[in-house]
Amino acid sequence: QKAAPRPADLLAWYDRHRRRLPWRAEPGRTADPYHVFLSEIMLQQTTVKAVGPYFIDFTRRWPTVADLAAAPLEEVLSAWAGLGYYARARNLHACAKAVVERHGGHFPADEDVLLELPGIGPYTAAAIASIAFDLKASPVDGNIERVVSRLYSVDEPLPKSKPRIKALAAALTPARRPGDFAQAMMDLGATICTPRSPACPLCPWMDPCTARAGGDPARYPVKAPK
Ligand code: ADE
Repeated sequence: QKAAPRPADLLAWYDRHRRRLPWRAEPGRTADPYHVFLSEIMLQQTTVKAVGPYFIDFTRRWPTVADLAAAPLEEVLSAWAGLGYYARARNLHACAKAVVERHGGHFPADEDVLLELPGIGPYTAAAIASIAFDLKASPVDGNIERVVSRLYSVDEPLPKSKPRIKALAAALTPARRPGDFAQAMMDLGATICTPRSPACPLCPWMDPCTARAGGDPARYPVKAPK
Protein backbone atom coordinates (compact mmCIF):
# COMPACT_ATOMS: atom_id res chain seq x y z
CA GLN A 1 0.00 0.00 0.00
CA LYS A 2 1.45 3.35 -1.10
CA ALA A 3 1.31 6.56 0.92
CA ALA A 4 -1.48 8.90 -0.26
CA PRO A 5 -0.50 11.92 -2.38
CA ARG A 6 -0.16 14.98 -0.16
CA PRO A 7 -1.62 18.28 -1.40
CA ALA A 8 1.13 20.14 0.48
CA ASP A 9 3.78 18.52 -1.72
CA LEU A 10 2.06 19.74 -4.87
CA LEU A 11 1.57 23.23 -3.42
CA ALA A 12 5.27 23.46 -2.51
CA TRP A 13 6.12 22.50 -6.10
CA TYR A 14 3.67 25.12 -7.39
CA ASP A 15 5.26 27.82 -5.26
CA ARG A 16 8.56 27.18 -7.04
CA HIS A 17 7.47 26.28 -10.56
CA ARG A 18 4.12 27.88 -11.26
CA ARG A 19 3.64 29.37 -14.69
CA ARG A 20 3.29 33.17 -14.81
CA LEU A 21 0.18 33.73 -16.87
CA PRO A 22 -1.54 37.07 -17.60
CA TRP A 23 -4.73 36.12 -15.75
CA ARG A 24 -3.01 34.91 -12.62
CA ALA A 25 -2.70 37.00 -9.48
CA GLU A 26 0.54 37.53 -7.60
CA PRO A 27 1.41 34.72 -5.17
CA GLY A 28 -0.80 34.67 -2.11
CA ARG A 29 -3.57 36.73 -3.73
CA THR A 30 -6.77 35.57 -5.38
CA ALA A 31 -7.38 36.58 -8.97
CA ASP A 32 -10.12 38.95 -10.18
CA PRO A 33 -13.21 36.75 -10.80
CA TYR A 34 -13.77 38.52 -14.14
CA HIS A 35 -10.22 37.63 -15.20
CA VAL A 36 -10.72 34.01 -14.19
CA PHE A 37 -14.05 33.86 -16.01
CA LEU A 38 -12.66 35.44 -19.19
CA SER A 39 -9.52 33.28 -19.26
CA GLU A 40 -11.38 30.04 -18.58
CA ILE A 41 -13.86 30.69 -21.41
CA MET A 42 -10.98 31.56 -23.77
CA LEU A 43 -8.99 28.48 -22.71
CA GLN A 44 -11.84 26.07 -23.41
CA GLN A 45 -10.75 25.25 -26.95
CA THR A 46 -7.60 27.33 -27.31
CA THR A 47 -4.04 26.94 -26.01
CA VAL A 48 -2.52 29.00 -23.19
CA LYS A 49 -0.06 30.54 -25.65
CA ALA A 50 -2.71 31.66 -28.14
CA VAL A 51 -5.01 33.03 -25.43
CA GLY A 52 -2.43 35.39 -23.86
CA PRO A 53 -2.69 38.34 -26.32
CA TYR A 54 -6.48 38.07 -26.53
CA PHE A 55 -6.83 38.11 -22.78
CA ILE A 56 -4.67 41.25 -22.58
CA ASP A 57 -6.61 42.95 -25.38
CA PHE A 58 -10.01 42.16 -23.82
CA THR A 59 -9.09 43.37 -20.36
CA ARG A 60 -7.66 46.60 -21.83
CA ARG A 61 -10.79 47.30 -23.83
CA TRP A 62 -13.19 46.13 -21.15
CA PRO A 63 -11.55 46.37 -17.72
CA THR A 64 -14.62 45.14 -15.81
CA VAL A 65 -17.44 42.71 -16.43
CA ALA A 66 -19.82 45.71 -16.56
CA ASP A 67 -17.75 47.22 -19.39
CA LEU A 68 -17.95 43.95 -21.31
CA ALA A 69 -21.70 43.71 -20.69
CA ALA A 70 -22.19 47.25 -22.02
CA ALA A 71 -20.22 46.61 -25.21
CA PRO A 72 -22.12 45.91 -28.43
CA LEU A 73 -22.06 42.19 -29.22
CA GLU A 74 -20.58 42.97 -32.67
CA GLU A 75 -17.50 44.52 -31.05
CA VAL A 76 -17.00 41.56 -28.77
CA LEU A 77 -17.31 39.17 -31.71
CA SER A 78 -14.79 41.13 -33.76
CA ALA A 79 -12.31 41.23 -30.86
CA TRP A 80 -12.79 37.47 -30.58
CA ALA A 81 -11.84 36.93 -34.27
CA GLY A 82 -9.08 34.32 -34.47
CA LEU A 83 -10.02 32.44 -31.32
CA GLY A 84 -12.69 30.43 -33.12
CA TYR A 85 -15.89 28.88 -31.81
CA TYR A 86 -17.88 32.10 -31.79
CA ALA A 87 -20.58 30.56 -29.60
CA ARG A 88 -18.10 31.06 -26.76
CA ALA A 89 -18.00 34.82 -27.42
CA ARG A 90 -21.79 35.05 -27.52
CA ASN A 91 -22.02 33.13 -24.24
CA LEU A 92 -19.31 35.31 -22.75
CA HIS A 93 -21.30 38.44 -23.53
CA ALA A 94 -24.60 36.92 -22.33
CA CYS A 95 -22.95 35.85 -19.09
CA ALA A 96 -21.43 39.31 -18.51
CA LYS A 97 -24.91 40.82 -18.92
CA ALA A 98 -26.39 38.31 -16.47
CA VAL A 99 -23.70 39.10 -13.88
CA VAL A 100 -24.64 42.79 -14.14
CA GLU A 101 -28.40 42.24 -14.17
CA ARG A 102 -28.65 39.55 -11.51
CA HIS A 103 -25.66 40.28 -9.30
CA GLY A 104 -24.92 43.99 -9.67
CA GLY A 105 -21.71 43.36 -11.63
CA HIS A 106 -20.14 41.05 -9.05
CA PHE A 107 -19.58 37.39 -9.72
CA PRO A 108 -21.28 35.35 -6.99
CA ALA A 109 -18.88 33.59 -4.62
CA ASP A 110 -20.85 30.35 -4.75
CA GLU A 111 -20.30 27.43 -7.11
CA ASP A 112 -24.03 26.56 -7.35
CA VAL A 113 -25.04 30.14 -8.11
CA LEU A 114 -22.26 30.48 -10.69
CA LEU A 115 -23.66 27.37 -12.38
CA GLU A 116 -26.96 29.16 -12.98
CA LEU A 117 -25.29 31.77 -15.20
CA PRO A 118 -25.55 31.32 -18.97
CA GLY A 119 -22.46 29.74 -20.51
CA ILE A 120 -21.05 28.58 -17.17
CA GLY A 121 -20.90 24.80 -16.83
CA PRO A 122 -19.57 22.63 -13.99
CA TYR A 123 -15.92 23.08 -14.98
CA THR A 124 -16.05 26.88 -15.23
CA ALA A 125 -18.13 27.25 -12.05
CA ALA A 126 -15.59 25.19 -10.10
CA ALA A 127 -12.66 27.07 -11.66
CA ILE A 128 -14.08 30.49 -10.70
CA ALA A 129 -15.12 29.34 -7.21
CA SER A 130 -11.68 27.95 -6.44
CA ILE A 131 -9.30 30.27 -8.31
CA ALA A 132 -11.11 33.59 -7.72
CA PHE A 133 -12.69 32.95 -4.31
CA ASP A 134 -10.50 30.22 -2.85
CA LEU A 135 -13.57 28.11 -2.15
CA LYS A 136 -13.15 24.35 -1.96
CA ALA A 137 -14.18 23.36 -5.48
CA SER A 138 -12.46 21.02 -7.94
CA PRO A 139 -12.42 21.94 -11.61
CA VAL A 140 -11.50 18.89 -13.69
CA ASP A 141 -10.19 19.52 -17.20
CA GLY A 142 -8.25 17.14 -19.46
CA ASN A 143 -4.96 17.86 -17.68
CA ILE A 144 -6.41 17.12 -14.28
CA GLU A 145 -8.14 13.97 -15.56
CA ARG A 146 -4.74 12.71 -16.67
CA VAL A 147 -3.00 13.52 -13.39
CA VAL A 148 -5.73 11.90 -11.29
CA SER A 149 -6.10 8.81 -13.47
CA ARG A 150 -2.35 8.23 -13.15
CA LEU A 151 -2.11 8.88 -9.42
CA TYR A 152 -4.78 6.25 -8.78
CA SER A 153 -4.36 4.02 -11.88
CA VAL A 154 -7.97 4.42 -12.93
CA ASP A 155 -8.40 1.43 -15.25
CA GLU A 156 -11.98 2.12 -16.24
CA PRO A 157 -11.92 3.95 -19.60
CA LEU A 158 -12.99 7.53 -20.26
CA PRO A 159 -15.63 8.81 -20.55
CA LYS A 160 -17.25 6.29 -18.18
CA SER A 161 -14.62 7.00 -15.53
CA LYS A 162 -15.39 10.73 -15.39
CA PRO A 163 -17.55 10.61 -12.25
CA ARG A 164 -14.94 8.52 -10.44
CA ILE A 165 -12.12 10.87 -11.51
CA LYS A 166 -14.16 13.87 -10.36
CA ALA A 167 -14.77 12.23 -6.97
CA LEU A 168 -11.06 11.42 -6.58
CA ALA A 169 -10.11 15.01 -7.51
CA ALA A 170 -12.62 16.38 -4.99
CA ALA A 171 -11.33 14.09 -2.24
CA LEU A 172 -7.77 15.22 -2.93
CA THR A 173 -8.59 18.97 -2.85
CA PRO A 174 -7.39 20.59 0.39
CA ALA A 175 -9.40 23.06 2.45
CA ARG A 176 -6.40 25.38 2.43
CA ARG A 177 -5.43 27.06 -0.86
CA PRO A 178 -7.92 25.17 -3.06
CA GLY A 179 -7.47 27.77 -5.81
CA ASP A 180 -3.69 27.35 -5.93
CA PHE A 181 -4.21 23.59 -5.74
CA ALA A 182 -6.46 23.63 -8.84
CA GLN A 183 -3.93 25.71 -10.78
CA ALA A 184 -1.08 23.51 -9.55
CA MET A 185 -2.91 20.45 -10.91
CA MET A 186 -3.29 22.22 -14.27
CA ASP A 187 0.39 23.18 -14.34
CA LEU A 188 1.52 19.70 -13.34
CA GLY A 189 -0.55 18.22 -16.16
CA ALA A 190 0.70 20.76 -18.68
CA THR A 191 4.41 20.64 -17.82
CA ILE A 192 5.31 17.35 -16.04
CA CYS A 193 2.47 14.85 -16.26
CA THR A 194 2.21 15.25 -20.04
CA PRO A 195 0.30 12.87 -22.32
CA ARG A 196 3.17 11.01 -24.03
CA SER A 197 6.37 11.04 -21.96
CA PRO A 198 5.73 12.32 -18.47
CA ALA A 199 8.78 13.72 -16.62
CA CYS A 200 8.21 11.57 -13.53
CA PRO A 201 11.60 12.26 -11.89
CA LEU A 202 10.61 15.95 -11.65
CA CYS A 203 7.16 15.24 -10.21
CA PRO A 204 6.38 16.14 -6.60
CA TRP A 205 4.03 13.14 -6.54
CA MET A 206 6.38 10.56 -8.05
CA ASP A 207 6.39 8.44 -4.88
CA PRO A 208 2.65 8.18 -4.30
CA CYS A 209 1.83 7.77 -8.02
CA THR A 210 0.53 4.25 -8.65
CA ALA A 211 0.85 4.51 -12.45
CA ARG A 212 4.52 5.43 -12.09
CA ALA A 213 4.99 2.40 -9.83
CA GLY A 214 3.31 0.24 -12.46
CA GLY A 215 5.97 1.29 -14.99
CA ASP A 216 3.77 2.70 -17.77
CA PRO A 217 2.16 5.96 -16.64
CA ALA A 218 1.49 7.03 -20.26
CA ARG A 219 -1.14 4.30 -20.56
CA TYR A 220 -3.42 6.50 -18.44
CA PRO A 221 -5.99 7.89 -18.90
CA VAL A 222 -7.44 4.75 -20.45
CA LYS A 223 -9.82 5.67 -23.26
CA ALA A 224 -12.73 3.67 -24.67
CA PRO A 225 -12.06 2.58 -28.26
CA LYS A 226 -13.70 4.97 -30.72
N1 ADE B 1 -6.12 25.77 -18.66
C1 ADE B 1 -7.39 26.02 -18.33
N2 ADE B 1 -7.47 26.88 -17.32
C2 ADE B 1 -6.19 27.21 -17.00
C3 ADE B 1 -5.61 28.05 -16.04
N3 ADE B 1 -6.37 28.75 -15.20
N4 ADE B 1 -4.27 28.11 -15.98
C4 ADE B 1 -3.55 27.40 -16.84
N5 ADE B 1 -4.02 26.60 -17.76
C5 ADE B 1 -5.33 26.49 -17.85
